[in-house]
Amino acid sequence: MEIGNKISRFKRHLVTAALPYANGAVHIGHLAGVYIPADIYVRYLRMTGEDVLFICGSDEHGVPITIRARQEGITPQQLVDKYHGIIKKSMYDLGISFDVYSRTSSPLHQRTASDFFRKLLDKNVFIEKVTNQFFDEDYGQFLADRYITGTCPHCGYEKSYGDQCEKCGTSQNPADLINPRSVLSGKAPVLRETRHWFLPLDKDEKWLRQWIVDEHGPDWKSNVVGQCKSWLDEGLQPRAVTRDLDWGVPVPVDNAPGKVLYVWFDAPIGYISATKELAQEKNINWELYWKDKETKMVHFIGKDNIVFHCIIFPSMLRAHGDYILPENVPANEFLNLEGEKISTSRNWAVWLHEYLEDFPGKQDVLRYVLTAIAPETKDNDFTWKAFQARNNNELASIFGNFVNRIIVLTHKYHEGEVKERLQLTDADRNVLSQLPLFTKRTGAAIERFTFREALSEMMGISRMGNKYLTDSEPWKLVSSDPGRVETILNISLQITATLAIVCRPFLPFTADKICGILNLDIEKFQWKDAGNPDILPPGHKINQPAILFEKIDDAKIEEQVKKLRT
Ligand code: 2FM
Ligand code: ZN
Repeated sequence: MEIGNKISRFKRHLVTAALPYANGAVHIGHLAGVYIPADIYVRYLRMTGEDVLFICGSDEHGVPITIRARQEGITPQQLVDKYHGIIKKSMYDLGISFDVYSRTSSPLHQRTASDFFRKLLDKNVFIEKVTNQFFDEDYGQFLADRYITGTCPHCGYEKSYGDQCEKCGTSQNPADLINPRSVLSGKAPVLRETRHWFLPLDKDEKWLRQWIVDEHGPDWKSNVVGQCKSWLDEGLQPRAVTRDLDWGVPVPVDNAPGKVLYVWFDAPIGYISATKELAQEKNINWELYWKDKETKMVHFIGKDNIVFHCIIFPSMLRAHGDYILPENVPANEFLNLEGEKISTSRNWAVWLHEYLEDFPGKQDVLRYVLTAIAPETKDNDFTWKAFQARNNNELASIFGNFVNRIIVLTHKYHEGEVKERLQLTDADRNVLSQLPLFTKRTGAAIERFTFREALSEMMGISRMGNKYLTDSEPWKLVSSDPGRVETILNISLQITATLAIVCRPFLPFTADKICGILNLDIEKFQWKDAGNPDILPPGHKINQPAILFEKIDDAKIEEQVKKLRT
């Protein structure tokens, strides 16, 4: 099966995007790191005719939810209902084309997660242990994960959570924190005995190292392999997969009241239950996507999720026995905002649902900018000034300008009709031969998960189109050489048609608009059609021009900066 440039040995694809916690809305950091790259990848696969499912949903369990519900003075269920709705709508409005957006509070998920746990229990995978856990005496409650904060023993960050340090990404046991404090009472907790089930990750070290470092070292991103290697080098410890909490999937054994599955045990199983939900709706076989070796599974995540997707979840899947493992986990680094870390609690963020209200019809501008600055190899910064510059100087001045010029000229000189190409010059032959090369390079970069490079290749088509039009100067030849004008406009229109196809994974709304203007049915085109010099046959009539990208003025940008700082 040929996708893009190389032969794929896979029959189908399962692409997952990290399930966002339903404790807040989605912001630009989530989008640049996970959802936009995943969407570009999936849209591209669909355009190459591949069989692909794109899976996501809300992560509705765990301490992030219960803490936020307490802060908002509502129940966890009310909280997740509110944010699930906001997240789902805003993602689809941005054109993130999930095949399913499910949620982990659904009964189907509860059953799936319970069955998974039971299977591991029946296979004697877990170690059952009584250990000392932090307990808040004032609140009469065990302090799982984010209910406890303290100083990270690895990097010294003072507000590290019990299960993971947000600063250095290290995953840890609460007992390792220096100077631990309860989030509930603010006091130092006491230790109390409690019984839990542990996944013996230490037993998996050998095959994990072989699988990650030896097998995937060459094709996975170096930040991902590097993080995994450092955990493996430190030595993996058995990890508790249950918690003393009253919100989550109840531990499916007798005599375990007040115990639920650890959110990081049930959340990735959410990918499976969401696939089942979709399969029921579409009448397809979900098991093929999770159990057949000819499925290529790819997890899109942020760097703080690497350990869970590369070590813990694979260890669960392998222990279960029926499931395939991911072929790749293209994790991104973090996006900062105006030089500072994005923070939900300090409201230092650009929220997707607010952006969509403030910039109606400008979904592709955000998609473009966040792809161009995606933190693929290191943390990167979003600034409103750079957002404006990318829109004005790249999307409007290069991309939009090229498309607009050729459409206007076609109406002006040829009443909106595509004419024949006559005799070709070297310059004509050159641009026509470049089109499939740009297409190929764009596809290859998407397949390598280097989306910034892919975007820049796509933009190369519009740059080339602009230059070709400017150099050929058809406006000077209207009376002296009308045949030449017909050829130049034909070629420029073919460039525009290829641009519409190649930009579609990145800028789906714009691709639709261009096809509307060119009077083409976008659904009829596949990736392989891009670069074809005869997409528009002579005699084809195009529609009237429409502005693709308006310039954004300083006042609009200042408004956003002000909003951020108030
Ligand atoms: O980091 C997060 O936002 C988690 N809710 C991601 C979960 S991904 C998956 F495993 F569910
Ligand atoms: Zn740390």
